[in-house]
Amino acid sequence: MVRHFLKDDDITPAEQRAILELTAQLRNRRYLEQPLLGPKAVAFITDKPTLRTQASFAIGIAELGGFPLMVDGNLAQIGVRESVADTTRVLDRMVSAIVWRTFADERIEEMAAVSKVPVINALTDGYHPCQILADLATIAQHLGGVRALPGKVLTYLGDGANNMANSYLLGGATAGMHVQIACPAEYEPDPAIVARAADIAATTGGSVAVLHDPRQGVAGADVVATDTWVSMGTEAEAAERKAILAPYQLNSELLAGARQDALVLHCLPAYRGSEITAAVIDGPQSVVFDEAENRLHAQKALMVWLLANQNTAVPTL
Ligand code: NVA
Repeated sequence: MVRHFLKDDDITPAEQRAILELTAQLRNRRYLEQPLLGPKAVAFITDKPTLRTQASFAIGIAELGGFPLMVDGNLAQIGVRESVADTTRVLDRMVSAIVWRTFADERIEEMAAVSKVPVINALTDGYHPCQILADLATIAQHLGGVRALPGKVLTYLGDGANNMANSYLLGGATAGMHVQIACPAEYEPDPAIVARAADIAATTGGSVAVLHDPRQGVAGADVVATDTWVSMGTEAEAAERKAILAPYQLNSELLAGARQDALVLHCLPAYRGSEITAAVIDGPQSVVFDEAENRLHAQKALMVWLLANQNTAVPTL
């Protein structure tokens, strides 16, 4: 069976550390690794809007010596014009890996079940694991390296039921961090994901908590993160979401309750005046553009690692 990266806990804590160490190396030496020389192709398919993800994968694949095959999901119509399985069986004859941004997680799970090459989740409704690798790399970059991640407090504010919240829970716990999700009762993470993250945290020295008070959430945090209140696919609920999530806006007053040097993360795109104020995202504690750049380095490290380890046993944690 081939290794894939569909969720943050598809890699062990040691594997995550190795990928993050390589991320830091690739930040300094962009052409250090060339596993795709040939060029070998990697397919990037997207069923949802994208800027950072498309740019960072296309450029990353090219910098690894490969050819990025960019597939517009609106043209491919995976699951409509052709089944997920048949699409996969065509592509995996020609490419070294498949990167997919799509809606339901079942779609990418179906692809991974038949694919002979590694499948990478470039965002689904459930998870955004490449973003969390970039976020962890950014925290490491600013707070003392990969070894400094365990024990740090990361608070995520806002929509606790979206892909970013789920990935912070799993990926942060894997890194040994204390992950706090401060969200309204209407948008809490799936208890099964919280339980899984707690199990991982028990092995890494981290912890997870879901709470409703944003002030309590940010108190003492080393890192404060937020995300849009209206994720792709939930646009019809925009008005209701904005009303319910308003108390979780990351503004200067709320940020003052975190550590004085707390980092501010946002995966972008950001909606200034909604989930985050301009003063905070454009302020001195914000590292959101380092975070965006780290998508490139982290995903390159992930691809290097996955291509080298695709035939290793799937870990059971
Ligand atoms: N939660 C957001 C992340 C965007 C990168 C969404 O799914 O739209």
